[in-house]
Formats: sequence, structure tokens, C-alpha cells
Amino acid sequence: MSKPVVIVNFKAYREVDGKGADTLATACAAVSEETGARIIAVPPTVELGRVARLVGIPVFAQNVDPYAPGSATGWITPSMVKACGAVGTLINHSEHQVQQRILEECVKLCKGCDLTTVICSNDVKSAVRAAGLRPDYVAVEPPELIGGDISVTAANPKIVEDTVEAVRTASHSVSVLCGAGVKTGKDVRTAVDLGAQGVLLASGVVKAKDPAGALRDLVRYI
Ligand code: G3P
Repeated sequence: MSKPVVIVNFKAYREVDGKGADTLATACAAVSEETGARIIAVPPTVELGRVARLVGIPVFAQNVDPYAPGSATGWITPSMVKACGAVGTLINHSEHQVQQRILEECVKLCKGCDLTTVICSNDVKSAVRAAGLRPDYVAVEPPELIGGDISVTAANPKIVEDTVEAVRTASHSVSVLCGAGVKTGKDVRTAVDLGAQGVLLASGVVKAKDPAGALRDLVRYI
């Protein structure tokens, strides 16, 4: 089994506007290099190309749209995400949900240009439906815990365990992540003990006074 992954979603917080995204991505890269941890940076789309060129760790987009290159003004195609140096994308984040048919098309286009896909899901049922599309990862994140101080691993460990089991039954090729409120190394360790192959998180790093310190703590037991 591969090393657990820590995916840092920068969201659209003011801290990562403009050069703030560079600073945070550089901290992610430094901690990854220093500790050997698998850390993935997910900057806002408008910063994506610059950040991908800046750091040596994998960089993902926060979303893609279901369009091939061509007449698609203003939409974000998987192809342009790949071309600017990103290697994967989140899709269907709780704050950016899409219908199943759009999800399907996005996953298909991402596979066509070799982008790693992380489909976010609010619950076990939607995680299993997402796993049916054979993304690389499904991330389960109870919306009510997102941005809060209590980690999903403490508030609702059952949703993590149940998602791991249900997704494993549906497909052996899809890995499960969990997220919402994850802020400490202990949270990450618990996520892994519950069967997750990593975490998806945001505020615990983006809003931290010392993001590099927060990251060091997050990866200390993995
Ligand atoms: O994409 C990560 C996410 O929605 C969880 O956010 O702030 O609870 O870590 P947060």
C-alpha cells in the first residue's frame, strides 16, 4: 500500500490570494522534502500554473469543468489543467457540487489526459456512487464538520470506516480519503487507522499562524 497522502486544499481563502498561494505551496513543498511525506497542494485555479511551476510536489486543481478543448469560454478544461503543470484535480467538492452526469464526463476527460481524480462526497452513499466512476480517490467529508475544529475522525469515525468498507467492496482500485476538521497529526493517524489512505484538509493549514509548523505536526505519525 502506498504512503498516506495529505492533500491541502487552499480553497479561496484570502491568505492564498496572489503570492499567498506561492508562500503556502512553498511551505508544503519544504515540509514534504524535509519529512518525506506525500503532500499535495491545491491552489485556486487562477494561481495553478504559476504554483505548479514553482514547486516540486504534485499540484492539483480545485475543480474542472466537463469540456474538451474548443469553444468553452471561461470554463476550466481538464486539458488546460494538465497543460499548466497540474497532475490532478478535486471534483464535486462540497462547496462546488455537480450533477452525476457532469461528474462522469469530468472523470472521463481527466482520464483521457492522465489527471489524477479525487471525487469529494458528503456521505457513504454518494462515495459509493462516485467510486463507480473509478476515480483514483474518493474523499468523504461531512459538510457540517468542514471548517470546524472537530475532526471527522473524532466526530464521526464511523463514516470513515463505513466509506472505506463500502468503497472497497465496490472497487479495489479506488482509494478513500477523509476530511473535515482535520488539523493534527493524531487526526491523520486516526484516519489511517480507520482505513483511509490519507486526508483532504484546508483550514488547519491555510488559516494556521505557522502553516509549515501545522504541516509538520500533521505528517508526524505517517
Ligand atoms: O477540502 C477540504 C475541506 O473541505 C475540509 O476543510 O477546513 O475542514 O479542513 P477543513
